[in-house]
Amino acid sequence: MAAVTADQTTQGTLGTQDVADADRVAAFEAAVAADERIEPRDWMPDAYRATLVRQMAQHAHSEIIGMQPEANWITRAPSLRRKAILMAKVQDEAGHGLYLYSAAETLGTSREELLDKLHAGRQRYSSIFNYPTLTWADVGAIGWLVDGAAITNQVPLCRCSYGPYARAMVRICKEESFHQRQGYELLLALSRGTEAQHAMAQDAVNRWWWPSLMMFGPPDEASSHSEQSMAWKIKRHSNDELRRRFVDICVPQAEALGLELPDPDIRWNEELGRHEFGAIDWDEFQAVLKGNGPCNEQRISQRRRAHEEGAWVRDAAAAHAAKHAPAQSSTRTPAQHSAPAHHVEETA
Ligand code: 3HC
Repeated sequence: MAAVTADQTTQGTLGTQDVADADRVAAFEAAVAADERIEPRDWMPDAYRATLVRQMAQHAHSEIIGMQPEANWITRAPSLRRKAILMAKVQDEAGHGLYLYSAAETLGTSREELLDKLHAGRQRYSSIFNYPTLTWADVGAIGWLVDGAAITNQVPLCRCSYGPYARAMVRICKEESFHQRQGYELLLALSRGTEAQHAMAQDAVNRWWWPSLMMFGPPDEASSHSEQSMAWKIKRHSNDELRRRFVDICVPQAEALGLELPDPDIRWNEELGRHEFGAIDWDEFQAVLKGNGPCNEQRISQRRRAHEEGAWVRDAAAAHAAKHAPAQSSTRTPAQHSAPAHHVEETA
């Protein structure tokens, strides 16, 4: 944010433009302090805009890359019911990506630009999607733990200071809540099934538990963006705060599922009023962020391939929109004419 202070303006060290900037900074800060929403037409500091683009892009990329590990099981779902549920869930994730890319576009960045950065490795997606889905139970563990962690992190984003992001999160959270429920229900069925099914569910929870805790980001003392993002009310809680909340939610749910969380150090601390838990392997987290997780290479190369293979669909949609544009120009705006090209979704 521009470092213009009220002192500078009253001391007369600033020109007219600087005074106008100081007024805009003051109006922005007052709106954030009053819990008002910042909208696309409002002035905002460049750093606020850049932080939002970074986080929203990372979030949108996570949604579409997250389609891959689960789509891996669509053809092998054990029943028609499970297949229909999984297909709907994977389609929801594509939709979440679309809402978020659209919300990011209100900040003056295009979807093409964000996708180019993802494909070039210049923007991140969530660490969690660099782990493989080895068995059918992983679909349940992803729903229960990964979508559960996502909801814990994302419900507070419904109160984010940036209007389009906050509004997109309302619908996303409702759908994520369904995703979490279906994962829980799937694991419950396996846990109560045969001995082999129970073991498969336990194995999936063992593998997904720690990476799910890493989803919340580095510990607070190592989180470079949290302080500023919380001051701007983009983030409402710190990474550790949300991680602790998630553990408190999961412990009784694991008991109800008849499954164990793979952490011998989890215990209730009466004094703190929350669960304590064991040390997270932050070296593993950093390795995954650097591209050395089990599936980083596979995820990004599959994404690039899907994008290239989908080029003809984007071209066809754009040509179709252009062809029909003149006939409808009296009733539709140019933005509406070009909309179909942007709403074409690729296979993950
Ligand atoms: N995976 C990958 N990168 C991560 C990460 C993770 N789990 N957690 C943190 N990072 C990165 C940050 O992007 C940042 O990178 P940079 O410095 O190169 O920009 C760095 O690690 C330092 O972390 P910070 O804590 O300072 O970063 P943030 O303040 O942005 O906090 C966050 C990280 C909590 C993930 C926050 O960005 C956030 O709340 N994002 C919105 C939610 C989101 O992106 N969720 C994706 C989850 S998956 C999903 O939603 C799909 C669903 O279907 C499950």
